[in-house]
Amino acid sequence: MDASNPIIRLPPEKMPKNFLNMAAVMGYGLPLISPMTMQPATPEEALMIFPEGVVAQEMNFTDREIPIENELRAAYYYANRPTPMHRAFRLEKALGLEGDRVKIFFKNESVSPTGSHKTNTALAQAFYAKKQGIKAIATETGAGQWGSALAYACALFGIEARVYMVRASYRQKPYRGILMRTYGATVAESPSDLTDVGKSFLEQDPEHPGSLGIAISEAVEDVVKHNDTTRYSLGSVINAVLLHQSIIGQEAKMQMEMVKEYPDIVIGCHGGGSNFFGFSSAFLADKIDGKKDPTIIAVESAAAPKLTRGVYKFDYGDTGHVAPIAKMYTIGSAFVPAPVHAGGLRYHGAAMLVSMALDKGLISATAKKQTEVIEAGILFAKTEGFVPAPETCHAICEAIEQAKMANDNGEKKTIAFNCSGHGYFDMAAYGDYLDGKLPDYELSDEEIQESIAKIPSIEGFQ
Ligand SMILES: Cc1ncc(COP(=O)(O)O)c(C=O)c1O
Repeated sequence: MDASNPIIRLPPEKMPKNFLNMAAVMGYGLPLISPMTMQPATPEEALMIFPEGVVAQEMNFTDREIPIENELRAAYYYANRPTPMHRAFRLEKALGLEGDRVKIFFKNESVSPTGSHKTNTALAQAFYAKKQGIKAIATETGAGQWGSALAYACALFGIEARVYMVRASYRQKPYRGILMRTYGATVAESPSDLTDVGKSFLEQDPEHPGSLGIAISEAVEDVVKHNDTTRYSLGSVINAVLLHQSIIGQEAKMQMEMVKEYPDIVIGCHGGGSNFFGFSSAFLADKIDGKKDPTIIAVESAAAPKLTRGVYKFDYGDTGHVAPIAKMYTIGSAFVPAPVHAGGLRYHGAAMLVSMALDKGLISATAKKQTEVIEAGILFAKTEGFVPAPETCHAICEAIEQAKMANDNGEKKTIAFNCSGHGYFDMAAYGDYLDGKLPDYELSDEEIQESIAKIPSIEGFQ
C-alpha cells in the first residue's frame, strides 16, 4: 500500500451477511432488571418497549452469528455500505512517523447519509419495527447524530419518529434538529413539558441543560403512554445495538486482510459503547478465540468518565428510573455531565458487554478532555481532509498518542481507529477552540463519589 492509493474499498458483495453476536462469543448472560418488578425483565415486559425483532436479538445469548435479512442489507447498500477504510498516510507524515514502522488506519463511518455509524442500528431497528406493523418510534438523542439517523431510517421505512433531544445539544447544534425535522421527525427539547418526567425536571430548574438519562426517561414514558402504536429505539448500550454495529468491525477486519495487515491497537471513542464495540468486536472475538492479541482501547470523555472512574454495579439506564436496570460501569444515573461538545459521550453508563469486557481485562479505557481532542481533530482535518465529530476526536487523539509513543520507543505498531462520524454540525466546537474559548471541565472525586452514592441498591443483584 502506498500514499497514491490510501483507500481500501470492500467489494459490495463482501458486505457481511451476518451480525456477530458478542454476547454468545463472550458467554454473557446477565439479565436486564425491570424497574417495575425489580426482577429480571420478562420478554413480555421488553416487548412493551422494543420491537419484537430487537427483543429476540437482545435475549439471544447462544447464536454466534445472526443473519442480516436481505431487505436490511439492501438498506445498508443504500446508506453507503460497505464504508471505506483508509491508511492515514498524511497524518502519519505530519506526526513524523518513520518509514512503515508505525501505521495508522481508520474506518470511515462518516460517509453514511446522516454522517455517523448510528445509521447501522437505526436502519435495523426501523426495519424490525416496520416488519411488526409499528407506526411510530420514540427516542432520545444527545448530540443529534442518533436522532438524525433514526429520523432518516424512519423516513425510509415510512414510520413516524418522535425525538427528545438533550437541551444543551439542541442549543449547541440547532441544525441537527432541523435535519431531523427535514426527514419528517418531531423534535422536542429535553427536559420537555410533553412528559411527566420532563415536567418534574423543569420544575426543579426551568433552564435544566438536560442529559441523555433524562431524555431516555421521556422517550420511554412516551412509549408507555402510546403503547398501541409506538415502540422505543435506543441508539447505543443494549446488546442488540452493539450487535448491529458489529458490521463495522467485520468489514474493517476484511479490509485490513486485503492489505495483509492486522491491528496491534484497536481504538474507538466511547459514549454508550456501540461504535467502540461494533468496531472492535471482530478483533475482540479473535482475542477471545486465542487467534490474535490486539490491545483494544475505549476512549471516553473526561466529563463522563464511567469506565475510568466509575463502579461496576447494577444501575438504572436513565435518570427518571423508568428504563431497565443493568450491570454496567456507571458514575450514577443521577449524574448530569458538563455541557461538553461531544454530546454523544455524556451518558452515565457503559454498555453491558463493554463493561464485562473491561471487568475481565479484555479491553482498557482512557479519558480525554475536550481541548486536547479538538486539537487532534484539527490535525486530522488538515491532513486527512475529513472534519471529525467531537466524539470521534477522542479516538483520533488516542491514536495519535499511541502512534507517537510507538515511534519514540522504536516499536512496530499498526493502529486502527473508527472514524465514527463527521463534525459538520459541530463547527461551534471548532470555532470555540480556534477563538481560544473552549473550556475544559475538572470533575472532582467528591462530585463522582456523590453521584455514585446515589446509585440505588438493587437487592439480590450486586
Ligand atoms: C459521531 C459519534 N461518535 C460516537 C458516539 C458515541 O456513541 P456510542 O458510544 O454509543 O457509539 C456518538 C454518539 O452520539 C456520535 O454521534
